[in-house]
Amino acid sequence: ISLNTDYCNDFIKEHELEFYHEQINTVHELLHEQRGPGNRALGWLELPIRSNEQELNKIKKLAEKVRTKADVFIVIGVGGSYLGARAVIDFLRQDNNSPEILYLGHHISPRYIKEIMASLEGKEVFVNVISKSGGTLEPSLAFRTVRSYMEKHYGEDGAKERIIATTDASKGKLKTLANKKGYETLVIPDDVGGRYSILTPVGLLPIAVSGICIDTMLEGAKDAYALYSEPDLHKNPCYKYAVIRNLLYNKGKIIEQLVTYDAFAGNLTEWWKQLFGESEGKEGKGIFPTRADFTTDLHSLGQYIQEGRRHLFSTTIWWETKDDLTLPELEGNEDDDGLKYLEGKSFHEINRQAFLGTISAHTEGLVPNMVIEIPDTSPYYLGMLIYFFEKACAISGYILGVNPFDQPGVEAYKKNVQKRLKQINFY
Ligand code: PA5
Repeated sequence: ISLNTDYCNDFIKEHELEFYHEQINTVHELLHEQRGPGNRALGWLELPIRSNEQELNKIKKLAEKVRTKADVFIVIGVGGSYLGARAVIDFLRQDNNSPEILYLGHHISPRYIKEIMASLEGKEVFVNVISKSGGTLEPSLAFRTVRSYMEKHYGEDGAKERIIATTDASKGKLKTLANKKGYETLVIPDDVGGRYSILTPVGLLPIAVSGICIDTMLEGAKDAYALYSEPDLHKNPCYKYAVIRNLLYNKGKIIEQLVTYDAFAGNLTEWWKQLFGESEGKEGKGIFPTRADFTTDLHSLGQYIQEGRRHLFSTTIWWETKDDLTLPELEGNEDDDGLKYLEGKSFHEINRQAFLGTISAHTEGLVPNMVIEIPDTSPYYLGMLIYFFEKACAISGYILGVNPFDQPGVEAYKKNVQKRLKQINFY
């Protein structure tokens, strides 16, 4: 993975980066010596080199069972408990031997839940309910709904055979329920927060069920661990990304949009949005993370990006790919659509030209851009990218002066909702 910062040259001077050298050394040490804020939630940092063979084997065995038996696999979770798995599965694509994967617990929308439940009839269903706290409202509501369906259809014992709970080792309502009902369980390590948990059983079981090789993904993360443990800012693209975001933020570029040109990357940028938003937005500070799918969003947000208020910067992820197709050639000299000059040309190349043309236009429109360039769309590089962002988020949060591992602000809405649900008369 490489970080191209050429499109930031007009916005940042080399010496401004130098001022961060010392600070990067300090935050690097704070993180690696576990002396910084949130230091009890740093399990993710060494996760790629702490791989637990026994647990991995259990995940693979469970995944194989689900793959052999299930028509449908329902992943129930919200935020960090489902976004990572969905991001990887959507981006890398599940294989033909995997069950249909459905997601619940990230919504209370009755129309959505009803539709998913109705689609289960006549199908062999397996479920993975994921919640670290074990009591989050949305997944609890979804799991109650699914559990009731499972027990009606398969009986208590049959349901037990088909439900896997991923939760804390000893605490929480879900853990108590899993013990009582005898569900198979997978453990979310105590020292890994939700949005940093994609490389734990939280992400690994659903990803393995989809047929994606979790060993290869973990290999990428392991190499990322080594690459991004380099304290020198100039040798570490992950730290450079974190520093440049903060430099731009301090110049009034308070919104970062993560841009991709791949139609399957939408949930990956969603995962990134959650990672950075929940980690950095606190104490009246933080870059607002947003995402855009290009070229689609060039026909909506494109106008704002080019000419709206100048408080934005972009980070584009560009993947090379051999998974390509060419524009069909037509008989004779027909050129009604004016595309003859592109006949036989690669879509990937056309997409690249769209990317290059767009990034130049936006940079000229005073939107700084960084580009993360990735050699291919494999599980290896996705594992590396996931770790790149996790580490960058932690470092960036420390530079900003916040604890990137807590989320005190989400409690306010939760309390209000709980209070209302207990007080109102339902119609
Ligand atoms: O990153 C986080 O900590 C959150 O987004 C959580 O993952 C999310 O709120 C779900 O929490 P839980 O796994 O406890 O149900």
